[in-house]
This record gives sequence, structure tokens and C-alpha cells, in this order.
Amino acid sequence: MTNLLEAREIFAGYGEMEILHGISIKAEMGKITCLIGPNGSGKSTLLATLFGLVKPRGGKIFFENQEITRQDPRHLLCRGMAFVLQRRSVFPQMTIVENLQLGAYLRRDAKIRQDIERVLSLFPALDKKRQLHAGALSGGEQRMLELARVMMLNPRLILLDEPSAGLAPKIVDSIFEQIYDLNQHGVTFVIVEQNVRKILNVASYGYLLAQGKIELEGECTELQRDSQLVKAYLK
Ligand SMILES: Nc1ncnc2c1ncn2[C@@H]1O[C@H](COP(=O)(O)OP(=O)(O)OP(=O)(O)O)[C@@H](O)[C@H]1O
Ligand SMILES: [Mg+2]
Repeated sequence: MTNLLEAREIFAGYGEMEILHGISIKAEMGKITCLIGPNGSGKSTLLATLFGLVKPRGGKIFFENQEITRQDPRHLLCRGMAFVLQRRSVFPQMTIVENLQLGAYLRRDAKIRQDIERVLSLFPALDKKRQLHAGALSGGEQRMLELARVMMLNPRLILLDEPSAGLAPKIVDSIFEQIYDLNQHGVTFVIVEQNVRKILNVASYGYLLAQGKIELEGECTELQRDSQLVKAYLK
């Protein structure tokens, strides 16, 4: 088993306030790992810390077995790690294709045009609407565009914060199908998700965060049977 990402004993927060109190997680190569837990438990802070947006006060982070603790996001993007934020981040006045071009802003090669076609072929729902402004897309399509945009950098790992938030159940299914499909193409994921039932069906390993600590972890098939978790999240 190879870990693409590993965080050991991470302590982090904002100003004087410590939010993460010694968190250790691993993301196995080629798998989907999920982070679940109540509002305010530190899930987004953990992703932001993994991506170098919040600098940890203690602990170490490794990507492909090399230490990346405190490296900045730009550097991590170039190394193959991407982050899709919890809040919406498409550029509404730009078309799908222009949003994808912006996704390649760190690249200096000549293959961007080709890669837009490659990425759109992975997202048939967007391909059909490629000349539409992102602001005219549905919430689910915008979420897909955010994923497509980070795919322009060819990441090996995507950190994804709440892909299903605010979307209708049918749309949620299509987002998860899209994630599953990208995973089949070799992309490893760490996903924060409120829809516990759905994500435990999609991911292979999961962590439950509570008040900045890992309260429970295990194979998702085991977590689905955990009585404490079932009582709190899967009633
Ligand atoms: N930029 C910030 N500055 C100060 N405090 C913050 C900041 N971002 C988050 N916090 C605080 O950190 C704690 C954890 O927040 P975080 O957003 O990581 O939780 P979460 O598990 O992602 O919650 P949710 O499920 O609501 O998205 C909260 O108490 C929050 O108020
Ligand atoms: Mg959050």
C-alpha cells in the first residue's frame, strides 16, 4: 500500500485559536479517502492545512513520501496536488472554455488547447455547453466546472471540500459519478462531505473528525456498520 499523502500529528489554527489538535491521516494512492464530522469540527481547516493555506504549528505533511510541510499552494499545485474549495469559485462572466484556460495559468507549455479537449471529454455535461458563461450553469454544473478546472493541471491528488453541498439529490449522484470516473482515471481524492451515507458508498477509507481530533477511522465498509456512527449520521 502506497500513501500519496500523509499528515502526522498536525496542530493548526487561526491566530491564537488552535483548531486541529494532533491530526494524523493518510490518503492511499488511487483511492478515495473521506473526512466526515459535524459543522465546525475542522474539516475545511484540515484541507487548507494540507494545501499550505494554513501553516501548521506542529506536525509533518508528506506528499509522495517527500516532506511538504509549510510549502505554498502554488508549489503544491505544480507538484500534482489540487484543492477545490467549499465555497463556489467559478468565474461567472467567463465561458466554460475560458474557465478551463484559467485553470492552466501555472502552465507554460503549448498543449493547453489539446488539454481543454481532453478535460472536456471527461466531463460530457460541460462539453455540450462549452461556450456558455459559467454563471449560466446550474449549481451542479458549476461544481463540475471547478473539478474540470483543476484537472487542467493534471493533478494526482485532489482535495475536495463538500462537493454535494446545496445540490439536489439527483445532481449529487451525478457529481459522485463524475468523481468516481476521475478516480478510475487514476486521480486520488480526499473528500470532505456532509452526505455521510453517500460518501461512505463512494470512498474506501474514512475519518470522523470531532472538535479537531480524529474520533474514529476505518474502512468505509466498517464505518457503515459502526453503531455509534450509524446512530449519529446514518439513521
Ligand atoms: N479563517 C478563519 N479564521 C478564524 N477562524 C476560523 C477560520 N476558518 C474557520 N475558523 C474556525 O475554525 C473552526 C473550524 O472550522 P472549519 O471551517 O474548519 O470546520 P468544518 O468542519 O469545515 O465546518 P463546516 O462543516 O461547517 O464546513 C470553526 O470554529 C471556525 O469558526
Ligand atoms: Mg467546512
